[in-house]
Amino acid sequence: MILDRHDSINTASIQARLEAAQSGAFHFPKEEVTAFIDLMQVYEGAMYEISTKLDVLDGEFQVRFEHNPIHHLERRLKSVDSIIEKLERKELPVTTQSIKDNLFDVAGIRVICNYRDDVYSVSNYLSAQSDIQVLRVKDYIKTPKQNGYRSLHVIYAVPVFLSSGAHYTPVEVQFRTIAMDYWASLEHALRYKTDLPDSRLNEHSQTLLDCARSLQNIEAQMQNIHRDINGAPQGDEAPRKEPRQQ
Ligand code: GTP
Ligand code: MG
Repeated sequence: MILDRHDSINTASIQARLEAAQSGAFHFPKEEVTAFIDLMQVYEGAMYEISTKLDVLDGEFQVRFEHNPIHHLERRLKSVDSIIEKLERKELPVTTQSIKDNLFDVAGIRVICNYRDDVYSVSNYLSAQSDIQVLRVKDYIKTPKQNGYRSLHVIYAVPVFLSSGAHYTPVEVQFRTIAMDYWASLEHALRYKTDLPDSRLNEHSQTLLDCARSLQNIEAQMQNIHRDINGAPQGDEAPRKEPRQQ
């Protein structure tokens, strides 16, 4: 199941957002509006390429092992406002070239897997495909963040074929289990909850850290039962960054 978490590309609405940005706090060069819309279309194509590959892998697992490693996929394109906000925050030029050079999460996919083994096998099978490159890997499952956040982040470059040829385009893919996703959603909500006193926020953060550890233990136990009754591939190694020659 693929959930789309963004509006499909609409030239008029992107143009309106960019124009609003020109008169507001952020500035986007007027002459680059068309290039920006073209670029968003390429990111959308890259996102579809990767999600189709993941869907095909999931189908193959179902046929071979009677197991669906992917519970569901979510995909989204970063909004115009978030793109401009991120460039400004990082003190980078607000141009299409700067987006291409500096932002690797304009196209984003979240892969919610059933088990930890699935996270590693799906990410490795995807990474091994000959037409895509692995640009960056961050394994927050092996090394969780201090707050307890766990997920495997991989940035892929996938070719999108246009009339002008192949454009290798980055897509950020976050692989996580259902439990990791459940945890991250609540932690995200807490992070944006600014009207709570610090003492309550700290208490909740500490409880969330305990929850992350408990969920990790529960997942390991359930994973073992699943391994015993299902022959799907096992794994605990993240893909490696392996730049290929083009
Ligand atoms: P930015 O993209 O600039 O934030 O930096 P980065 O690419 O180095 O970040 P990283 O790969 O660590 O994280 C990117 C995304 O992962 C974020 O946009 C979130 O969706 C998710 N993420 C990372 N850390 C956390 C966390 O502590 N809690 C939650 N809920 N999500 C996180
Ligand atoms: Mg990022």
